[in-house]
Amino acid sequence: MSIWTPSSWKDKPVLQQPTYPNQGELDRVLSELKNYPPLVFAGEARSLKEQLANVAEGKAFLLQGGDCAESFSEFHAVNIRDTFKALLQMSVVMTYAGGLPVVKVGRLGGQFAKPRSSDTETIAGVTLDSYRGDIINGAEFTKESRTPDPQRMIRAYNQSAATMNLLRAFATGGLADLHQVHKWTLDFAHKGEISQKFEDLAEDIGKSLKFMEACGINSKTYRTLRETDFFTSHEALLLPYEEAFTRKDSLTGEWYDTSAHMLWIGDRTRGINDAHVEYMRGIKNPIGVKAGPTMDPDDLVRLANVLNPENEAGRLNIIVRMGADKVAEGMPKLIRAVEREGLKVVWSCDPMHGNTIKSSNNFKTRPVDAVLKEMTQFFQVHKSEGTFGGGVHLEMTGKNVTECIGGSFVVTEEDLSSRYHTHCDPRLNADQALELAFLIADSLKEAQK
Ligand code: PEP
Ligand code: CO
Repeated sequence: MSIWTPSSWKDKPVLQQPTYPNQGELDRVLSELKNYPPLVFAGEARSLKEQLANVAEGKAFLLQGGDCAESFSEFHAVNIRDTFKALLQMSVVMTYAGGLPVVKVGRLGGQFAKPRSSDTETIAGVTLDSYRGDIINGAEFTKESRTPDPQRMIRAYNQSAATMNLLRAFATGGLADLHQVHKWTLDFAHKGEISQKFEDLAEDIGKSLKFMEACGINSKTYRTLRETDFFTSHEALLLPYEEAFTRKDSLTGEWYDTSAHMLWIGDRTRGINDAHVEYMRGIKNPIGVKAGPTMDPDDLVRLANVLNPENEAGRLNIIVRMGADKVAEGMPKLIRAVEREGLKVVWSCDPMHGNTIKSSNNFKTRPVDAVLKEMTQFFQVHKSEGTFGGGVHLEMTGKNVTECIGGSFVVTEEDLSSRYHTHCDPRLNADQALELAFLIADSLKEAQK
């Protein structure tokens, strides 16, 4: 295999990149970014890899979730806080009712760039560049907004830094203290079966904490009661940006992408001879690769060998996103190929991207039933293959949006127009995400029998 460098991806075919009109300006921005402080420290990425090794071994569960695409306009402390709270709620449900520690990874603090099915978009006879995420261009359908602008990378970096800063404060500054479990409920949560289930669980946790307190175990004496580890991740799509944050770790001399703890390769850019795989093979962070219905089992094995040549547990997360009707047929052959080769991987389920439909009133949406079904089938297949379904990868928000239809507090097609705020794909709202968390908890309990 040829020698890897942070820029060796440039010698390979590269998909899904913008064409910047001004190369000089792009170069100036990239050399500025190369001098900016890293957003994460390599030691943190190593610590996430260790936790993911536990997931690969069936001793923990991975919860990865956040926006489909972060945006400049929705950048607000309340949005970050509410998504963080929704993830904490889900995680405590899975830990308490599911019986496993949960590794928490946000699709946050850098999840800006989006792959598109077409390079251009035509409306009423006018053709412009497709919107590729706020780090590249603007969503508004004007020539000015759709022209890729390198300065947006600097803004995305600054927003990511501020987001990271707040997440770190939430994770260690008191909000994540288990004694606060009642306060994680979001103000708008609908009073219904799911919120009642959560209240009951919080009540039980409160009693356990009182008992532990009596035994001398409390937030003061135990860090894990008052703090949590929270990691960030995004799709490593915009390679010039990722390259600018690829730094040599001073402790180990190894290369890390310091723009996030974990990075993943999308379903459209996973070609084994292409630039994204080339870039990802050289960084030491934990990484993911999406596996859609067209993933061939032998290709998956080849990809795993290139991306994880030392077969390190915790390095590679296969994020399966087949769709509710395809996973039962499509996933067993992937699992068998990986098992046959003795590859150590984390298996996660992305029950979002294979279940996108158009509603009759023309919204891009996802039926919660399909999301729940894909998740259930994912666990069933793993159970029958004797492997561990170790994670979930979600597009969700702590905001009270109406983007996915269904759920126990039903969002109808007519409701979609009321609070449809996503800049890209439809996200589960906090109620819907919590409903899924209870389903996962039941499956985890079942898997441990
Ligand atoms: C995504 O995660 O937002 C995405 C585009 O997914 P996929 O690569 O699986 O289509
Ligand atoms: Co998406």
